[in-house]
Amino acid sequence: MNLKRLSNFFFLALVLLLGTFLVFRNQGHSPFHRKEVTPFTHAWDSIIPNQDIPKGLSSLRAKDCGHCHTEIYQEWKISTHAHAWTDEQYQAELAKNKNLFICKNCHLPVQNQQQYITTAIYDHDYFQPVRTKNPRFDPSLQHEGITCIACHIKENTIIGSHDNIQASHPVKIDTDYLSEKLCIACHDAHDDLAEDLVCTFETGKEWSQGPYSQKGKNCISCHMPEVDRPSATGAISRKGHRHYFPGSGIPKVKGEKAFVLNGLEFAIIGDTLHPTNAPIHLGLRATNQHAGHKVPTGDPERHFLIQFDLLKNGEPLQSDTFRIGEKWQWWPTAKKLSDNNLAPLESRFFEKDYNLKDTSNLSWKVTVSKHRMTQEMHDYHQLSDQYPTSIIVFQRELPIRFK
Ligand code: HEC
Ligand code: HEC
Ligand code: HEC
Ligand code: HEC
Ligand code: HEC
Repeated sequence: MNLKRLSNFFFLALVLLLGTFLVFRNQGHSPFHRKEVTPFTHAWDSIIPNQDIPKGLSSLRAKDCGHCHTEIYQEWKISTHAHAWTDEQYQAELAKNKNLFICKNCHLPVQNQQQYITTAIYDHDYFQPVRTKNPRFDPSLQHEGITCIACHIKENTIIGSHDNIQASHPVKIDTDYLSEKLCIACHDAHDDLAEDLVCTFETGKEWSQGPYSQKGKNCISCHMPEVDRPSATGAISRKGHRHYFPGSGIPKVKGEKAFVLNGLEFAIIGDTLHPTNAPIHLGLRATNQHAGHKVPTGDPERHFLIQFDLLKNGEPLQSDTFRIGEKWQWWPTAKKLSDNNLAPLESRFFEKDYNLKDTSNLSWKVTVSKHRMTQEMHDYHQLSDQYPTSIIVFQRELPIRFK
């Protein structure tokens, strides 16, 4: 090799080395940096380990539990829990970052549902999991989201709540496991995972600090109402629980059935029969009469809009909107800006004075709607019009009359 050729070779090698270095630098770490393994610290960092199929059963799938627990299966299938994996927004968020394993810990809580076994993270970064392939991954179980065994299995045994049952499979009775603690493990979590990624669900705390925890009414009392029936084919009738887990009632897919619970009671304030020449005072009182926690609760994007419309011949003259919910800034760092959610049994008044000159053919309409997210968020995630964002929970139109 002559000298000229040798220097060309060195030049090329240098360019390659520099290129590699820059690529690594752009990815946030240098090729010489040794990654530090950070152990888990949250309760929800870890999940239910891989489970064996209990004796007497042929699979772990909800669909197969449903051969005998037919009614419970039909109810669960409509529930939000059954949609925790297929949810369009969830899939859209996951598609943006395949490494975001932490989401799966609540949405796919059994290891058999997950492709990878994640044991820690690198460099305190939730986007860099330390993981190996899970040889016992079952894709059909993954599709079921928060499936029966998410709540009913421990140490390869089905967990139940009644003594004296004649089951086709072994059952361990553990009423402490099947209590509100189970719900709170997923429905109460608060942590900053990254600058622009926080996990914030405070339903458990809101409940334990509110009036219902003292009255002995827990998550199960309201979200799994009691029913007398046989819980399995061939079993005797006894007190059991519905498995619809009704909540916001905003369907996951347009036109699909969703069970709704309404926490708020509404009352119209003011009289629609008015003296002429005086301002008209109208409004709405909203009371959190039925929820054991704040309304809305959980997901920080949930909110209610209360809209007043003054109409003439059915056409709007004036519209005013009020909001119940949290406000967040998501970028560049996640930060709660405000929170006016209604605490259990709290009432709030929404009011408006109207000065009317023209007094004929007037009416006043109030509409209350419950929202999963704003239209801007829906568009930002590029969600389809098959993913509904809201439902109407209250609407009245009253004619305005004059004395
Ligand atoms: C071959 C039928 C069959 C299959 C399949 C089956 N079970 Fe059962 N299971 C029963 C019967 C029967 C009982 C007893 C019911 C009774 O006596 O009230 C029972 C009892 C239970 C109990 C305890 C009920 C209580 O009152 O405490 C739970 C929980 C349960 N099954 C969950 C499951 C889950 C989860 C699956 C699927 C992984 C499943 N079962 C699959 C037949 C079945
Ligand atoms: C393994 C975690 C987990 C457990 C355990 C759990 N949940 Fe959930 N729950 C979720 C997730 C995740 C969702 C939302 C799924 C979605 O919207 O995609 C949800 C949704 C709900 C909803 C519906 C919310 C809505 O707006 O429709 C209700 C109600 C609910 N859960 C109540 C309960 C109750 C009661 C329990 C205890 C018996 C419980 N959950 C246990 C994770 C869990
Ligand atoms: C006293 C009855 C009651 C109790 C106790 C209760 N809830 Fe609720 N919950 C409701 C009602 C009513 C709603 C519907 C609120 C609304 O959207 O109007 C609701 C809504 C929800 C939602 C949907 C979120 C939303 O804002 O729409 C979730 C999730 C939920 N509850 C979970 C829980 C969990 C977890 C517990 C226990 C820590 C619990 N609930 C205890 C009555 C109750
Ligand atoms: C989010 C948690 C959760 C999921 C998912 C769930 N269950 Fe349950 N289930 C419970 C709780 C909690 C109870 C006990 C309530 C009590 O006794 O206070 C229960 C009770 C039962 C019982 C006893 C009878 C009764 O109605 O109380 C059976 C049987 C049962 N579940 C089967 C199933 C099957 C089958 C599935 C899936 C199709 C399923 N469960 C899904 C939480 C869950
Ligand atoms: C600590 C448990 C937990 C973790 C971790 C978690 N979720 Fe959830 N997720 C929930 C619960 C509980 C709900 C239901 C909240 C409610 O309705 O109040 C939910 C609801 C949702 C919904 C439905 C929202 C709606 O308005 O209907 C989406 C989408 C979602 N989660 C995406 C994610 C993504 C993406 C991640 C990871 C960045 C994630 N979740 C991590 C517990 C969790």
